Amino acid sequence: MIRRKIVAGNWKMNGSKESVDSLVNGLLEIESQASEVVVAPSFPYLSQVEQLASKSQLVLAAQNVSDELKGAFTGEVSASMLDDFGVKYILLGHSERRSLFGETDSLVAKKVAIALNAGFAPMLCIGETLEERESEQTLEVCKRQIQAVIDTVGIDKFDSLVIAYEPVWAIGTGLSASAEQAQEVHSLIRAFLAESSKSVAEKVQILYGGSVKASTSSALFKMPDVDGALVGGASLDAKEFIEIVKAAG
Ligand code: G3P
Repeated sequence: MIRRKIVAGNWKMNGSKESVDSLVNGLLEIESQASEVVVAPSFPYLSQVEQLASKSQLVLAAQNVSDELKGAFTGEVSASMLDDFGVKYILLGHSERRSLFGETDSLVAKKVAIALNAGFAPMLCIGETLEERESEQTLEVCKRQIQAVIDTVGIDKFDSLVIAYEPVWAIGTGLSASAEQAQEVHSLIRAFLAESSKSVAEKVQILYGGSVKASTSSALFKMPDVDGALVGGASLDAKEFIEIVKAAG
């Protein structure tokens, strides 16, 4: 099955009005037919990026959403608020949210349900730590993280979400998983989904994230079960990000 590739840039907690202007203007030339190009700025810059990118191919993503719908939750951002900024995707379950902010599988699953109910496409981030990989728990961890979402929203809702496999040991380290390592885990993830629904497993896009660079992306994108990339550091450099988009076709 042909699955449209997605190249998404997770800007994390980086940026200023000036740097966002410069980065987005550097990306406006992108005219990829084959891939969907997504940028995920921090909340304060969503409006600015929406306006700058309004006539471009760029698609907006948010980096998080509250598990509450509205009300006395200081500092939180609700799904309905994101609706005001033309957001399509919401990153959920990112390893930094899990490790630094204590987001559990069940909280991630609740946020996925909220995002889906509000009409967004969750980008469900999963992945193992180095310790878990070294103790051969990679698949067990990915299955556990996915199963929590299946139990909450049902397998059919996976038609409306994207999975991002991000081995924690590859995030921000400069040490990407090899294309073969990524393919192996992506194919196992797809096989696990197929146990619940063959059609969903065939359709769901599975992105790789973890030190993706222009120099490593071509090999990654050649892999049959790698449907794109979720890029961190390299997405903050317009030229590098454009090269990754070009590699996706
Ligand atoms: O969400 C993508 C991010 O975690 C990967 O970061 O800097 O290793 O590309 P980086």
